[in-house]
Amino acid sequence: MLLQKSILGVEAMSASDYKVKDMGLAEAGKLKIYWAEKHMPVLMLLRKKYGEEKPFKGLRVSAVLHVTKETAVLMKAIKDAGAEDVVLAASNPLSTQDDVAAALVEYGIRVYAWRGQSSEEYYWCIRKAAENEPDIILDDGGDFHALIHKEYPKLASKMIGGTEETTTGVIRLRALERDGLLKYPVIAVNNAYTKHLFDNRYGTGQSTFDGILRATNVLIAGKVVVVAGYGWVGRGIAMRARGLGARRVIVTEVDPIRALEAVFDGFEVMPMIEAAKVGDIFVTATGDKAVIRKEHFEVMKDGAILANAGHFNVEIWIPDLEELAVSKRVIRPNVTEYILRDGRSLYLLAEGRLVNLVAAEGHPSEVMDMSFANQFLAVKYLNDNRGRLPPRVLNPPREIDERIARLKLESMGIEIDRLTPEQERYLKSWQLGT
Ligand code: ADE
Repeated sequence: MLLQKSILGVEAMSASDYKVKDMGLAEAGKLKIYWAEKHMPVLMLLRKKYGEEKPFKGLRVSAVLHVTKETAVLMKAIKDAGAEDVVLAASNPLSTQDDVAAALVEYGIRVYAWRGQSSEEYYWCIRKAAENEPDIILDDGGDFHALIHKEYPKLASKMIGGTEETTTGVIRLRALERDGLLKYPVIAVNNAYTKHLFDNRYGTGQSTFDGILRATNVLIAGKVVVVAGYGWVGRGIAMRARGLGARRVIVTEVDPIRALEAVFDGFEVMPMIEAAKVGDIFVTATGDKAVIRKEHFEVMKDGAILANAGHFNVEIWIPDLEELAVSKRVIRPNVTEYILRDGRSLYLLAEGRLVNLVAAEGHPSEVMDMSFANQFLAVKYLNDNRGRLPPRVLNPPREIDERIARLKLESMGIEIDRLTPEQERYLKSWQLGT
């Protein structure tokens, strides 16, 4: 089957050049992408500027990202900037928006992604992104970087570089770097201030509750919400739980400084074994495994709701839940009821995967605008500096961060002050004191 050459001037592709659920969904996907474009002014501005200049001319780019309407805007920007071949695979087996995937194929992006992949299918798609022999890769979570290092060492040695979107991925890449095995420079997009301060905090804070509410429609007011982890994601979730009227917001932590910060932010802090006894809704955001496990399930209240906002489905330890349960059933989309031996029910959302992307649409476009402007400019930075960067995990340059912040403020119609020359001199001087 050949895809019809679309009105957008995209070359025809053969059926083996992509794999999505249903091309019939493309029109719905295009409307979603249009909506995202209307809410991503910074990325759209970059798309317009570099769509004219074509800095990525001839570049082969492969991305393993959540296939959402926001990712679509990024992929289109990279292609418009001249990239020769753009391949996209999903960074989670359950997060793909199938209509968006289909629309992207019509825009000439080679998508290998559909919602509900098996583990084999998930890796088959990521291998397709590697087989394209990209110059630059984008990743969310580190699976793509890990696969290339394990299975495509020759490719790793000749690539210009890569980017990484999320905290979990950056932690994995730093481990690879520590072992002396990292083969190419990686820009840790997550470490940009205009990424983690906004996406991780406000993006996840809102979208996690969006997912919990779409899945359950429970009232948050009056509930006891337990948030595991007080990194930027946990901070955002705790803040939004309070805003929605939770009666108590409890934070669990292993880091004493973060725990203290949570206390000073006005949250209760206690060990999970204590929180487990009183929580109505649990949200994990630690990046580690088995944060909620057997000993915790055993003391939970009947009807407790379990959701994960961390990258992998390991935080709520499902093998223990399976072991304790006498039966389970899906009672609503994205809600699985586990009935325990003593008759209590625990409700696991989104199979323990990212609740915001599986049960809702991920972070809102306005916040992904900054995250993906960072991704776009990180690709440009890697390309502009090809051959000059060490094979290390690198923080994004400060200028990129400031440029994005300024553009975002501008798009919101917000002006800020500038230092006077006298103030600049004062800040540069060590002689001037009292
Ligand atoms: N990660 C969290 N939200 C996302 C979104 N809307 N698109 C892509 N990746 C995301």
